Amino acid sequence: MKTIRLGDEAPNFKALSTEGEINFHSWLGDSWGILFSHPADYTPVCTTELGVVAKYKEEFDKRNVKVIALSVDGIKSHYGWIKDINETQNTTINFPIIADEDRKVATLYDMIHPNADDKLTVRSVFVVDPDKKVKLMITYPASTGRNFDELLRVIDSLQLTAYHKVATPVNWNNGDDCVIVPSITNKEIPSLFPKGYKEIKPYLRITPQPNWN
Ligand code: BEZ
Repeated sequence: MKTIRLGDEAPNFKALSTEGEINFHSWLGDSWGILFSHPADYTPVCTTELGVVAKYKEEFDKRNVKVIALSVDGIKSHYGWIKDINETQNTTINFPIIADEDRKVATLYDMIHPNADDKLTVRSVFVVDPDKKVKLMITYPASTGRNFDELLRVIDSLQLTAYHKVATPVNWNNGDDCVIVPSITNKEIPSLFPKGYKEIKPYLRITPQPNWN
């Protein structure tokens, strides 16, 4: 297993999922992607997480993001559990869940942390861009449900950097001012940032969020 770092190509894999056999890179196509693992089927925290992810479909679609979940349980277990998620979370699961019984994908992405649990995946999250580059990795303990609002916030930030050459400051939320990335010279600013900018220090240049009305 090779350590995955930010900027690396997300390792490709073929795997069985609740939506059939998936080749990860082909499945992603030109989309951004979230690959996230959960410890096991029929567990309480995971049930709430997967319910919320299904409900956020419109938010993911707006951002051209496809989501795919993974656990080391089998496909039959996944199908049974999906019925429970739909019933208890009042939703319809609308994304694939990988059945990684042989732990091939979990091993490739280092999702099993033996000092936490040597059999189950931890709560890993990988965000991948349309070039299949890993842009974000977060690892949560099994007992802490993830905050998918935070993941949407990070994706908004990543997309602002990718498409508008701005970074996002501390506690930034959609609509807040952004910072112009250091590689942009002051000469380039007027054409790139017609809304204007404020230079607080030469390295700290603030501009209104470019894609916000
Ligand atoms: C859960 O997935 O619900 C869970 C897993 C491990 C500890 C506590 C909760």
